[in-house]
Amino acid sequence: MSVRTAHIAHDVGSAQPHGVIGSPSFRRHAAAHVLPCDCSNRPECRGAAGWSFPVTRPAIATTNLSRDYGSVRALDQLSIEVPAGTIFGLLGPNAAGKTTVIRLLLGLVEPTEGEGTVLGFDIHKHGDEIRRRTGALFEHPGLYERLSAYDNLDYFARIWRMPEISRRVRIESLMRHFGLWERRYEIVGAWGRGMQQKLAIARTLLHQPPLVFFDEPTAGLDPIAAAALRKELAALSHSEGVTIFLTTHNLAEAEQLCDTVGLLRAGKLLAVGKPAELRDRIQAPQLEIVGRGFDDDVLTLLRKRAEVRAAHAADSNLVIHLSGDVDTAPLVSLLVESGADVQEVRRRGATLETAFLSFMEEVA
Ligand SMILES: Nc1ncnc2c1ncn2[C@@H]1O[C@H](COP(=O)(O)OP(=O)(O)OP(=O)(O)O)[C@@H](O)[C@H]1O
Ligand SMILES: [Mg+2]
Repeated sequence: MSVRTAHIAHDVGSAQPHGVIGSPSFRRHAAAHVLPCDCSNRPECRGAAGWSFPVTRPAIATTNLSRDYGSVRALDQLSIEVPAGTIFGLLGPNAAGKTTVIRLLLGLVEPTEGEGTVLGFDIHKHGDEIRRRTGALFEHPGLYERLSAYDNLDYFARIWRMPEISRRVRIESLMRHFGLWERRYEIVGAWGRGMQQKLAIARTLLHQPPLVFFDEPTAGLDPIAAAALRKELAALSHSEGVTIFLTTHNLAEAEQLCDTVGLLRAGKLLAVGKPAELRDRIQAPQLEIVGRGFDDDVLTLLRKRAEVRAAHAADSNLVIHLSGDVDTAPLVSLLVESGADVQEVRRRGATLETAFLSFMEEVA
């Protein structure tokens, strides 16, 4: 049994939907509670997602959270807060520690150091409680390929012990939301990755968790399927008030989808903020110089200057990432005095992608 199936198979209380996604009753519920109320005390509002949690508290909070695997520090002193009802994206390259963060937050691995709470529960002690109240989708969709799409969801809804009527209502609502309803009787093994991924996401939402974790949800999808899925995730967060914690190595995805983005590299959080703030912070102007003689000595001199955040040379081109809106004449003079042959100088804003890569290299 996979980790994910084991997670779902935990004993859970009875579940009863708060209404069809996007319906007035659901929106009322989401707006009123964002994270669940003590619905279990109220018949009209009882469900697997029925736990009291004040909206003012962050859905996720960590302090100096760290995890070592032998001599490898997979995560180093992560301190973040994720407000309820928002989408948080952890953005980083391979081996940055993204999956490790999700595993720690779900209580699937023990931290080496540091603290964390998820929906108010301590990740050290209450992993079961956290897993019961959240949804999670890791790299593998974890579906039964020989079953129909409907039967897959029905199977998992039974594991969550959802009563029959609630099960039917919830499955139809989710399948309609993801555009899968018309194809509900098709065998999942015959589906492409995009549709399987939508179904897998629907599966994580069956029991109406107030918080879901998606580990690289659009990995392996073509650009059109990925864009469609992003739209649906955003709509879901808004219509149901669900907090989404996702990981990605796709900068554009983080920018489009997330309220807040954390940049993670080699286990360290380099920066955290709203995508537009990060864009401003990392997208400093750059100077492009065409000429000759941009050797290592010249680059070393440049990199020591306060106006310079990074400098790279290739063939007859030198690119200098500036630390802000600085006067560049002294830099050109420095190049000339160092013996470089300057033929042309252009100043422009870096593309976000270039700026991001340079930022990741620079702070490493
Ligand atoms: N179970 C494990 N045993 C040993 N090392 C591990 C284990 N899990 C993760 N690591 C190491 O921890 C580091 C972070 O891994 P993690 O899987 O969290 O990165 P990631 O950002 O999710 O990478 P990817 O983009 O490839 O999924 C890597 O160096 C990885 O090799
Ligand atoms: Mg990973």
